[in-house]
Amino acid sequence: MDRKEINIRYAEYCSIQELSDSDRELASEAILATANSYAPYSNFHVGAAIRLADGTIVTGANQENIAYPSGLCAERTAMFYAAAKYPDTPMKTIAIAASSDGVLCPEPATPCGACRQVMAEYQTKGGSPISIILVGSEKIWKFDRVDDILPLIFDSLGK
Ligand code: THU
Repeated sequence: MDRKEINIRYAEYCSIQELSDSDRELASEAILATANSYAPYSNFHVGAAIRLADGTIVTGANQENIAYPSGLCAERTAMFYAAAKYPDTPMKTIAIAASSDGVLCPEPATPCGACRQVMAEYQTKGGSPISIILVGSEKIWKFDRVDDILPLIFDSLGK
């Protein structure tokens, strides 16, 4: 028996000012998109902004429903919209932010497992890494590819 380890590399920034111009723009769009969230049940307003390979930015926000499971996370709202509208343009970067009571959360908002799995599929479909920027007011994390937030990705039916 061998004990194995999986290491995850990511960058931590103290402010969006430290990001590149293009990442800062995307992070700002994710923050703005939190305002489009419909979250009367959780009061957790999540915004996602995706940069496509041609530079287009698509945003989404979580949409809740009184029948709770009918709602959808911000990330999947944005990814499904991007894929439905621009099916042939790969996604390059997704930025995610969350706010409560109009205040940006200090800690980065981390995507749920289902959203990570959907990101993984679009990364495979697009044929190049999707980087992920998780935006908090006190720290920002950047991961270079979906594999970094979803180790041991399910992507094969045993072939
Ligand atoms: N939510 C997202 O939009 N993205 C995530 O990655 C985690 C959770 C939403 C779902 C629900 O509307 C609210 O946040 C509370 O879970």
